[in-house]
Amino acid sequence: MKGIILAGGSGTRLHPMTQATSKQLLPVYDKPMIYYPLSVLMLAGIRDIMVISTPADLPQFSRLMGDGARLGVNFTYAVQPKPEGLAQAFHIARDWLAGEACALALGDNMIFGDHLSLQLQEAAKRDDGASVFAYQVADPERYGVVTMDPHGRALDIVEKPANPASNWAVIGLYFYDKDVTEMAAAVKPSARGELEITDLNRMYMEAGKLHVQKLGRGCAWLDAGTPDSLMQAGTFVQTIQQRQGMLVGCPEEVAFRMGWIDAATLRDHARALGKTDLGRVMMAIAEGHR
Ligand code: G1P
Repeated sequence: MKGIILAGGSGTRLHPMTQATSKQLLPVYDKPMIYYPLSVLMLAGIRDIMVISTPADLPQFSRLMGDGARLGVNFTYAVQPKPEGLAQAFHIARDWLAGEACALALGDNMIFGDHLSLQLQEAAKRDDGASVFAYQVADPERYGVVTMDPHGRALDIVEKPANPASNWAVIGLYFYDKDVTEMAAAVKPSARGELEITDLNRMYMEAGKLHVQKLGRGCAWLDAGTPDSLMQAGTFVQTIQQRQGMLVGCPEEVAFRMGWIDAATLRDHARALGKTDLGRVMMAIAEGHR
């Protein structure tokens, strides 16, 4: 399975912070935002990853992330000339995907929780249909909303409903089978002129092929699209990291734990971070102390 991180958009809700840089490069505590969805894809076992961003921002992502060799993964970069909806990612990635299954992670979504990597790896292994994750929120009208029967089967999925039928939001992490390129090609622009990911998910639902996995209360799903949610996400990461002495959203650590880089390489990455706390914890992990 391949993976896409969509890191486009103009981030208008974060202006002026995003006037001269990409939202997904802003810091969430001690790391650039994109590291969090990147770590999630890597935890799912995905090593071929395409980063999609605007023509102006894309070079900065490749400056930050390179070709991926230092993490034992492959990064490919592609431009989204104009933001025309999340499902457009599959038009852009069409040739690169070459008919393979693919996960899509939104560059401003962060998830954190116990047993998460197991759930992610299960979704990545499923080779028939699409898998999405639902999370209970206080403000479902801001998201794609799914309603389910008592067995957890999806009955309906609606983008930003004025009167949400449930409080289960669909998070910005989607796993699709190899039909995704073909299915995405059939998505028509919505009333607001976008190729909606929710329309793609509805097509899978109508074909009886949408798996919805509920994320429990012990899981944290955060998006960082407004000054408040950006700050909350940063504080969350700071709190967990300082309390546990562990790291959240650190691709170097994930690469090490997945066995894609060895301890000596992780030590080199830690050394390159100098005297930062991040480098110190990374070093402790490389030495087997965490
Ligand atoms: C997008 C999707 C929405 C999803 C959300 C998750 O909305 O369209 O279905 O729930 O991401 O963050 P956007 O944030 O682009 O408005």
